[in-house]
Amino acid sequence: MKVAVLGAGPAGLYFAISMKRRNPAHEITVFERNRPDDTFGWGVVLSAETLDNLAANDAVSAAWVREYFAYWDDIAVVHKGVRTISTGHGFCGIGRKRLLLLLQRRARDLGIELVFESEIADPRPFMSNHDLVIGADGLNSPSRATFADVFKPDIDVRKCKFVWLGTRQKFDDAFTFIFEETEHGWMWAHAYQFESETATFIVECSEESWAAWGFGGMTREQSIAACERIFARHLGGHRLMSNAGHLRGSAWVNFPRVLCERWSHKNLALLGDASASAHFSIGSGTKLALESAVALADYLHSEPSLEAAFDRYESARRTEVLRLQSAARNSLEWFEDVERYLDLNPVQFNYSLLTRSQRISHENLRLRDPEWLAGAEAWFQRRSGNTDNVRRAPMFAPFQLRDLKLRNRVVVSPMAQYKAVDGCPTDWHFAHYAERAKGGAGLVYIEMTCVSPEGRITPGCTGLYAPEHEIAWKRLVDFVHAETETRICAQIGHSGPKGSTQLGWQQSDAPLAAGNWPVMAASDVPWSPENQLPSPMDRADMERVRDEFVASAEMAARCGFDMLEIHAAHGYLLSSFITPLTNRRLDEYGGSLENRMRYPLEVFQAVRAVWPAEKPVSMRISANDWVGEEGVTPAEAVEIARLLQAAGVDICDVSAGQTSIRARPVYGRMFQTPFSDRIRNETGIATMAVGNIYEPDHVNSILLAGRADLVCLARPHLADPYWTLHAAVQLGDRDVKWPDPYLAGRDQLYRLAERTATMGLKV
Ligand SMILES: Cc1cc2nc3c(=O)[nH]c(=O)nc-3n(C[C@H](O)[C@H](O)[C@H](O)COP(=O)(O)OP(=O)(O)OC[C@H]3O[C@@H](n4cnc5c(N)ncnc54)[C@H](O)[C@@H]3O)c2cc1C
Ligand SMILES: Cc1cc2nc3c(=O)[nH]c(=O)nc-3n(C[C@H](O)[C@H](O)[C@H](O)COP(=O)(O)O)c2cc1C
Repeated sequence: MKVAVLGAGPAGLYFAISMKRRNPAHEITVFERNRPDDTFGWGVVLSAETLDNLAANDAVSAAWVREYFAYWDDIAVVHKGVRTISTGHGFCGIGRKRLLLLLQRRARDLGIELVFESEIADPRPFMSNHDLVIGADGLNSPSRATFADVFKPDIDVRKCKFVWLGTRQKFDDAFTFIFEETEHGWMWAHAYQFESETATFIVECSEESWAAWGFGGMTREQSIAACERIFARHLGGHRLMSNAGHLRGSAWVNFPRVLCERWSHKNLALLGDASASAHFSIGSGTKLALESAVALADYLHSEPSLEAAFDRYESARRTEVLRLQSAARNSLEWFEDVERYLDLNPVQFNYSLLTRSQRISHENLRLRDPEWLAGAEAWFQRRSGNTDNVRRAPMFAPFQLRDLKLRNRVVVSPMAQYKAVDGCPTDWHFAHYAERAKGGAGLVYIEMTCVSPEGRITPGCTGLYAPEHEIAWKRLVDFVHAETETRICAQIGHSGPKGSTQLGWQQSDAPLAAGNWPVMAASDVPWSPENQLPSPMDRADMERVRDEFVASAEMAARCGFDMLEIHAAHGYLLSSFITPLTNRRLDEYGGSLENRMRYPLEVFQAVRAVWPAEKPVSMRISANDWVGEEGVTPAEAVEIARLLQAAGVDICDVSAGQTSIRARPVYGRMFQTPFSDRIRNETGIATMAVGNIYEPDHVNSILLAGRADLVCLARPHLADPYWTLHAAVQLGDRDVKWPDPYLAGRDQLYRLAERTATMGLKV
């Protein structure tokens, strides 16, 4: 095959090598606009695992690369003058220039022609006189641009500015992150050694700090001098160096996240950064480029046609690219929002940084550096007021709100059971909640319990509006207090426009077949075209419903509930005021956020006035309507939380969605936790995270990173009432309290767990 490779970066060179290794008869030419040793950047990070993969593809170049590798295990974080080191991270690095020179040598040895100082603005002439053309021409790929209508690139230019510098200062003991507060805002550096004499030193900052420093108007030399002053304490008198001399301008750039809908067109295929990029903070761009080069060479030899090879290449590599890009997005967003975390204690800040991409979990950190993690866990326990046994996982740290003391941070999230009769809880509710209370969680919620018959979602919903309801709930609360150390919270709410609908396991949110009751809302916006048109509330309605909330709160207080939550999420009555999607009011209860929040806050104030002062009140909100700027966004949710905080709400239960049938949620593990993180760390109000959190590992990492104060699990508690007790078994924690009659069962589980662990070690 006659092959033209456009671009002699890691992707282009390694592809050429991989092709030639598979068939020496290929006639391959690599075209590069720069001179052979004229490259930008300093070191690149790879992993030992990546190198093993490369050795299987071409042992010669892998051995050469290995010879120059710098290895390090530690990550150091310098923040607020404290240098925190954790170990076990296992990186290796090599100079970018060194890597390219080795690959060039290997390519020449294999008989590949390298043509330097050859600028290729358009791949088309090559496509007509070669069998195969590879667009490996980097982030700003001219090949991609030429066929932009086919490749349909999605280029997301990220917020931070960065410049890739080098230094002779040694960072050979650890991959080092340095955060410096300057007169113009925070600046940070990612520094790592890649050769005995040289380290990479990437300086990054927000666009605002960059503008305030005036970097845009500086020459490259002036920028470097400013960075040297900013990081002087860490440079030991060494200079910062730029090797981007062949690039125009100051060399500061914004990272573009590239993803293309297609990677091939006719006989042209995109490779490396040209097709997909991964942010440098997870150090995987070169790995991605090299591994994609191997895959493409493989398929070009295993498949019967170019088309078939390209198809397999795209489908096989796209998953890997999306996985890495998702981790990279978490990581780069962490840096973009870093100012949110800079006030955290250095231990928590460090933990948050290490787990930022969500690729490293709590237990994963324990494997890497058990001692460091034990220290961080102990810090968390002490800060939570536990001085007895500080060697416990974060989920087993106590938490206090007003006089309410929780023994741990696990919460059974509210879940409607649809088993009530005329609003009255039945034996089902007693058995169901009693079991969850015995299951070890710190706090158990009862389901959304409605303040009036019309405020019910379905005919099966529970209420707190009749004397018999109070009697039934009090029986449960008394049992929980007498027999367990779990605390119990009542969630009260009004269904609003989603009322008069079917049971959860029937057609959820659809009107009843018969016996519908009239519904009301902030405005006359129905939940869906099939649902009833709600009547917009007038002042009398608002006062009546507010008083119903108060009456329910008084009943809940008499029942002895330890905490109260007002449900202002998921499209129900109070939520219908908050979200602009359903609030069309022209009075002082519609329009601005302050107006939309006015009624929910009036309800809160009235409830707070009758709820015992020593007990906390929470509000559950939908922190994202999942419809973009038209609805509540995570940024607006921060403002909602600020209003709650100012009104005296003790904790914000951060849920999301269910406010519109137009919502397009992005699901995933812990998918709503970022909203809680943002609210907690931008406002300082305590938060609860909820949504697809199902492993002890998730709970521990959310808590230790400071993304929430409490963690709610709903569906996991339907499947396992004893989720917390079982999590303790899994984590080897023997300090949770089981109900006395169950001790024999506990001991058997502990023995079985120990046996499994011992067998695990022997294997
Ligand atoms: C600051 C920073 C730090 C990074 N750190 C790491 C790291 O630690 N680990 C890691 O794995 N990755 C890292 N990367 C990413 C890594 O550099 C890229 O992912 C990798 O280089 C991709 O290889 P490539 O061959 O596709 O592109 P490139 O390396 O960009 O190579 C493209 C080549 O094409 C040439 N070219 C472009 N246009 C033309 C043209 N018109 N005509 C001829 N030639 C042309 C360019 O000169 C260049 O040589 C980092 C990136 C940045 C920006
Ligand atoms: C069967 C069921 C009933 C629910 N009922 C309520 C409810 O009454 N009040 C409420 O705020 N959320 C309710 N939710 C939402 C949960 O509390 C929780 O926010 C959601 O299920 C996400 O958590 P998970 O991924 O742990 O299940 C319910 C969820 C389920 C599965």
